[in-house]
This record gives sequence, C-alpha cells and structure tokens, in this order.
Amino acid sequence: MYKGVKTISLYPIMEQKIITDYISQNKERVLNELLDLLKIPSISADKKYSADVLKTAQAVKQRLIEAGADKVEISETSGFPVVYGEKIIDPNKPTIIVYGHYDVQPADPLNLWDSPPFEPVIKKTDLHPTGAIYARGSCDDKGQMYMHVKAFELMMKTNTLPCNVKFMIEGEEEVGSPSLGPWIIANKEKLKGDVILISDTSIIANDTPSIDTGLRGLAYMEVEVTGPNRDLHSGVYGGAVANPINILCKLIASCHDENNHITIPAFYDKVVDESKEYREELNNAPFNLQEFKKDLAIAEEHGEKGFTTNERTGIRPTLDVNGIWGGYTGEGAKTVLPSKAFAKISMRLVPNQNSDEISKLFSTYFESIAPQSVTVKVTAHHGGEPIVVSTQSAGYKAASMAMADTYGKKPVPTRGGGSIPIVALFKKELGLDSILFGFGLDSDALHSPNEHYGLFNYYKGIETIPLFYKYFTQLTAK
Ligand code: BES
Ligand code: MN
Ligand code: MN
Repeated sequence: MYKGVKTISLYPIMEQKIITDYISQNKERVLNELLDLLKIPSISADKKYSADVLKTAQAVKQRLIEAGADKVEISETSGFPVVYGEKIIDPNKPTIIVYGHYDVQPADPLNLWDSPPFEPVIKKTDLHPTGAIYARGSCDDKGQMYMHVKAFELMMKTNTLPCNVKFMIEGEEEVGSPSLGPWIIANKEKLKGDVILISDTSIIANDTPSIDTGLRGLAYMEVEVTGPNRDLHSGVYGGAVANPINILCKLIASCHDENNHITIPAFYDKVVDESKEYREELNNAPFNLQEFKKDLAIAEEHGEKGFTTNERTGIRPTLDVNGIWGGYTGEGAKTVLPSKAFAKISMRLVPNQNSDEISKLFSTYFESIAPQSVTVKVTAHHGGEPIVVSTQSAGYKAASMAMADTYGKKPVPTRGGGSIPIVALFKKELGLDSILFGFGLDSDALHSPNEHYGLFNYYKGIETIPLFYKYFTQLTAK
C-alpha cells in the first residue's frame, strides 16, 4: 500500500452538487460531442488526411465559441494551425493556459481493430465496467483535451469560472510539434499566464489517482545501411558480400550490453542519479508486476539491471528500435541479398540529457562500429527535452487537491515514461511550469489498435478540472 494514500473528503457539498448536477444534466450531449470529434480522422503524420486535420481544427474552434470563449481563432503556423481562445474575466486574477492536441496517430494496422478507428463505439471492459469509447484519439488526446472545453463550459454556464483561461490546442503533437515552438515565440504577449495545464498523460488506475512529475525527452534517429550497389542473388554472392540487414542487426545489438545498459560512449554522462529516497518513493507507488506481465502477456519483464520497472520507465533512458526493414518481405520466399537495410531508432531521455547531444553521440557511435564492408547513414528526426515538475508549486498542489476531492484519495506523484516535447519549450520560452493533469490509463492502448478512453475517466476529468481552477486561484491569490 502506498503510504501517501489517505482517504479524505473535503469536497464541499455545494460545489460538488453544482458540478455533478451539470454533468448529469448534460451527460449525453457532452459524450455525443466528443464522439463527433472522434469521427474526423485528424492524422497529422499522413498528408492524405490534411483536410480532416483542418476540419478538426474548425470543429474545435466552433466548440470553444459555443462553450463561451472569446477571441477564438484558427491561428496559422507553418504546419497545421493552433486553435486559440480565451476568457479574461479580470486581469488581476491568475490565468491558466490549457494545452492539448487535436491531431491523432495513424490508425494502422487497421486489421487489428475490433471496430473501425473513426467510428467510435462504447464497450464495457474489466477495467472500464461502465464503458469505454473505442476510437483513435479517444484518450490521446481528443477525449482528454475535450474534457477541458466541457469543464470550461460548465464553469461558464454555472457562473463559477474563478480566473482567466487561454486555450492553445495544436494539431502537430504526434509529429513532434515542429511549428508550435516558433508560434509560441511569435505569440509570447498573447500567452502571458501563470501555469500550463495539460491532460495528455495517465493515472495509475481508476481507484489510484496520480500526477506525473516528469516526462522523458526523445531523440529519434533513422539509419540506412548500404552494402552492394544492387540487390544480389543470395546464392551467387551470399557468403562473400556483407548483407546490410545482418550488419544492421549486429549494430543494433551492440547498442546494449548484457545488463541492458546502453553502450554508446558518454550516453549516461549527464543522467541525473536520483537519490535513494526518491527511488524509494517511486517504488512505493502502487505497481503490481504480476498484473503488468499479465496485461501484456509476457512471461518476464526486461530492462536495465539494477532498476525496477517504475524506475526503468520513469528515471532511466532507453534505446528502442521502432521499425526495421529491407530485403524481401512479400509472400513466399525470394532468395535475395539486399543492397540496403533501414531502421528507426528512438531514445527516451531523462534529466539532464539533451536530445541534440544524444543524437550526435548516437551517430558517432553507430558510424564508428560499422565495418568497412558497408556504409552507414544516420539522420535525426524530431527530438524533445525531458522535464520535471515540482510538487511544491501552486499548480501541483491545486491539481493534487482537486483530485483528492473527486477521487477521495490524494494522488500519487509518478514519473511518466512518454514525451510531450513542447513542455520543455513552455518553460524555456514562456517561463511557465506545466501541470500534467492526465486522466487516462496506460492500458488504454494509445497509439495501438483499439485505443479507448473510459467514460468514468472522461466525466471524472470534467468534474475535477473546475476544482483545479478553484484551488489554483485560491493558492495564488495576492
Ligand atoms: N500523450 C502522449 C504522451 C504520453 C502518453 C505521455 C502517456 C505520458 C503518458 C503524446 O501524444 C505522445 O504520444 N508523445 C510522443 C512523442 C511525440 C514527439 C510523437 C511519444 O511519447 O512517443
Ligand atoms: Mn498526446
Ligand atoms: Mn500520442
């Protein structure tokens, strides 16, 4: 049992009633509006869907207007636009900036979905006994982003909005937010505020609320290994010419040692060694290894020696192949010694690693270990820096108090393994901390077939967000 978890009930009855009454009176509409958003395939990675991404931006704009926001606009960038809107009730009150994304990941492999990814259906599961919405983007991030629009509507309609709010909903998060950085720099005046509020992460379980106090960074590489100048007959030449796929596998394998430690020289130089106390705290967070393995149907977990699963995903860096290809992958057997082999390799980074530095270390290492029989080309894709969130800030405290009210339990501080690269930029360019106020579950199949989002989670988010506004306003009162 996590020692910090205490059952508390401070949730004042009147406020609770205003919020829960509004939600129950608008339950169907609030759900149907989300289902409509989920029907638009806003896949930012695939040009075929550009019109749908723009259509989603229009829909989000319309919903913000209907909810009561002012100055709502589709703000152009060099890529997909940012949807902006605000409600300024009093310049002397604090301003919460809500960030979210309306784009989604590609849905493939389509054949592994039980229902079409852009035709949302509601199904009950063991973890979601009251039902979950199955659709691409249901959890990441349309469902979680839309909770904020509905919570705002609730505060507007019940006259309970206690502070100012600005919405910044982008359409390129799933491709590394390439245009948002420049947009932020160009709009610093407009983005004056006190805290960034983001629902794009997870909680431990529906009876165990938690708040991420950090996210990992990312360095994403692509490698191309070239052997002979053309594909060859693997009998005529096999054995006498380097096979680039064989070599690539060897190069990848030599990125880890027998302890699953990454072998790239200087890779760990800047990694913060967390204190014994902090590691203990992390390991005290509720986590059941048996259930973890059962959920993933694996007989054994895997990772860097000397670290627990929570540590491996929270405070340690990784190197993973995301895709590898080359040669013949069609039906039947073709005997071929391919000319080229490719892989996409990502590294998750932790404080104080830097994505550019790590990309360079990777390139240098990969090129240095390649034999003379092949040539290796390494290119870097998007990256992002790791971040940590203080548990001592007004924002964290407000989030913790809000969740304590609606879950009846104080949330556990955890470390998220995923990345939201723009968060580091919010700090650098705007000087603002982000609060990772996620409501999804890791098991909601984000980026996978059958992504879903619990109805419990959706409504709980809408219920909890207004309390964040309330506590944040109280805690920052001058
Ligand atoms: N919402 C996720 C990040 C996330 C999910 C953080 C769950 C913590 C828990 C976000 O949309 C995402 O998928 N980010 C990408 C990075 C991006 C550059 C494509 C990621 O983490 O792979
Ligand atoms: Mn997301
Ligand atoms: Mn995502």
